[in-house]
Amino acid sequence: MEGKLLHLKNNALSLILDAESATELEELEIQFLGRNGELTQLMKTLPKLPAEEKPVMGRLFNDTKNIIEDAINQRKQTIGKKRTTHHTLDVTEPGRKPPLGHLHLVTQAIQEISEIFHHIGFTRVRYPEIEWDWYAFTALNFPENHPARDDWETFFMKGSSHPQKGAMLLTPHTSSGQIREMERLKPPIRMLNIAKCYRRQSDVSHTPMFHQFEGLVIDKGISIAHLKGVLDYFFKSYLGEKRSSRIRPYHFEFTEPSFEVDVSCGVCLGKGCKLCKEGWLEIGGAGMVHPNVLRSGSIDPAKYSGFAFGWGVERVLMMKEGIKIDDLRTLYSNDLDFLKQF
Ligand code: PHE
Repeated sequence: MEGKLLHLKNNALSLILDAESATELEELEIQFLGRNGELTQLMKTLPKLPAEEKPVMGRLFNDTKNIIEDAINQRKQTIGKKRTTHHTLDVTEPGRKPPLGHLHLVTQAIQEISEIFHHIGFTRVRYPEIEWDWYAFTALNFPENHPARDDWETFFMKGSSHPQKGAMLLTPHTSSGQIREMERLKPPIRMLNIAKCYRRQSDVSHTPMFHQFEGLVIDKGISIAHLKGVLDYFFKSYLGEKRSSRIRPYHFEFTEPSFEVDVSCGVCLGKGCKLCKEGWLEIGGAGMVHPNVLRSGSIDPAKYSGFAFGWGVERVLMMKEGIKIDDLRTLYSNDLDFLKQF
């Protein structure tokens, strides 16, 4: 009796393990545990056993029944899981591409600008966004309390000011990096300072936070011709061979002479059209470094001269062919539909 039971159990277990479908398992359940099943049949012989064997055998029957039931349930689960694995492994299904992000339009522009200047030996630097008045204004030849400071619409910070360097502010232009670079290096200097700048302004063509890039070159015998050469090189590299630049007299405290820089319109290339009217688009400021600024940076203006230029990354970006953004503020609005286009 015991041997028969063992044989039945092993047989049932191996058949259950081989079963490949729920239907097969249901059939096995009937074959072994059903009303006329093999185990049930065997159990019917229990009353014929001698009285002392009955409880032991009874327990054995129960254990065997439980083992077979458990095995069936487990196998059911395994088959269920396998089925879903088969399902996801349809090799004919086209692949699903994971969504890929990309760098922000302005970051891409910063990288491209850095690379262009890198080719002609400019080193990219970054200086503090929270600055002292000294670097942003005073050392750049702005007289104390001069109204020209208002042109930069500066955010001043509440709190402590520096005993020598004055008020704490959010830097309104990258020109603050000029003096810091002169403190860091003796000439020759070829600096490219790209940084966030802050001004109290917000409309379709201005954001309170924007990016500027500033070039500064100081060496012996630097002239306006070098400045013009670098400007042309940059605009041709960044905007295309057909574009050219021009400089017009202007005024800045920290350069003498000072210029406003224009770039030829991408549509009419300087002839004048509906879009630009005059043929030229205004970009920003430039000039020969003022002797007082060189002195603030402990450089002897009798020995060295230099030029500087600086303007918005966003502004030159907008002049690229194919980029038209009606409201500059969209750049910083986290609107994915907009950002995904670039
Ligand atoms: N810092 C000036 C501005 O923000 C631009 C400038 C840079 C002018 C360097 C002259 C030289 O408008």
